[in-house]
Amino acid sequence: MSILSDKHILLGVTGSIAAYKAADLASRLTQAGARVDVILTPAAEKFITPLTFQSVTGRKAFTDADLWGGEAHVLHVGLGHTADLLVIAPCTANTLAKLAHGAADNLLTITALAARCPILLAPAMDAGMYEHPATQENVRILRERGLFFAGPGEGRMASGLVGRGRLLEPVELYGHIRLVLGKNGRLAGRKIVVTAGGTQEPLDPVRVLTNRSSGKQGYALAQAALDAGAEVVLISTPTGLTPPVGADLRQVHTAEQMLNAVLAECAGADALLMAAAVADFRPKSVAGEKLKKRDGIPQVELDAAPDILAALADSDSRPRCVVGFAAETRDLLENAAAKLKAKKLDLIAANDISAPDAGFGVDTNRVTLLYADGRSEALPLMNKTEVAEAIIERLAALLEHP
Ligand code: C5P
Repeated sequence: MSILSDKHILLGVTGSIAAYKAADLASRLTQAGARVDVILTPAAEKFITPLTFQSVTGRKAFTDADLWGGEAHVLHVGLGHTADLLVIAPCTANTLAKLAHGAADNLLTITALAARCPILLAPAMDAGMYEHPATQENVRILRERGLFFAGPGEGRMASGLVGRGRLLEPVELYGHIRLVLGKNGRLAGRKIVVTAGGTQEPLDPVRVLTNRSSGKQGYALAQAALDAGAEVVLISTPTGLTPPVGADLRQVHTAEQMLNAVLAECAGADALLMAAAVADFRPKSVAGEKLKKRDGIPQVELDAAPDILAALADSDSRPRCVVGFAAETRDLLENAAAKLKAKKLDLIAANDISAPDAGFGVDTNRVTLLYADGRSEALPLMNKTEVAEAIIERLAALLEHP
């Protein structure tokens, strides 16, 4: 179940040219299972119509006309009381100023004043306006009051000027919304370290020995841990994937670098999810110059790469819970059980990668969970997001009841 399922989100839209991006955001939130009620300010209506939002949310979008309609006196209170989150995207300098000073002159600002839920603001304004001391002071007041901010980003603005003031892209806003909704989840206050991707062991300055890991399962675990309120450090090789909003990314290439990052980050962490496909072997020596064809076919001698989980098992940095992953093509459960023991894991996710619908590169996984106390649990074929949510739920239970 997505963190957005059954959530009631109020989306406030103010008068900025970036209002068109809010339609995409409303659509994403709706598709993720949220009930989305949109409130447009009078200025927003100059840029985009309520009908646009109604078409993507399947629900009436509210405007100031509703403020003076039949439900007038209760609408803003009702909306503000039932919502799980009020997000204002784009939020203009004008609306920021009104919120900072408690003005309530339209349905959106009245609702914001009546709201009991968290409020997330995504500023959008032209260069100079965001940096203006008046705006900065308003941002400071609102932050101090506990409101959350997403952006603004830097880049080219509608005016052609380049600077800070761009509305974040809908996919980033979506990430910030998840972050705020997850804040008080089961893993709130916990630090979770996740590794992801396949390590790259250099042969020479241009060539590496690597594997088929896509990093998708590790990134999904990082997102699921964030959704549950954890502080997440994501130690990843270059995967081409966008890290989830809120994850603290540490980029590494080799098993050695990953080992050092894991040892450094695990001190003080509550759990490690070791989803990375770490090299077992690496070239014994790395050529200083590119190996040339004209010099003949090189004989590559391999050496053992560090076993990160084995090293962690005997170190002072070992967090309370360590979860390993086993990707096997045969004798899956026997191999996984042996690893669970040898690497002193609390839980191992055993993954049969010989099946065409599971493992590297594809979006689905067929996983059996084995616990240190001998329990096992076979999960059905799931997409990697669902596998991640299942593992995070089991991890939370292990941390709550050691
Ligand atoms: O023994 P095997 O490498 O198959 O075990 C897989 C688990 O061990 C995974 O969680 C993987 O991330 C981790 N691993 C490791 N160091 C290695 C190889 C794998 O920590 N050198």
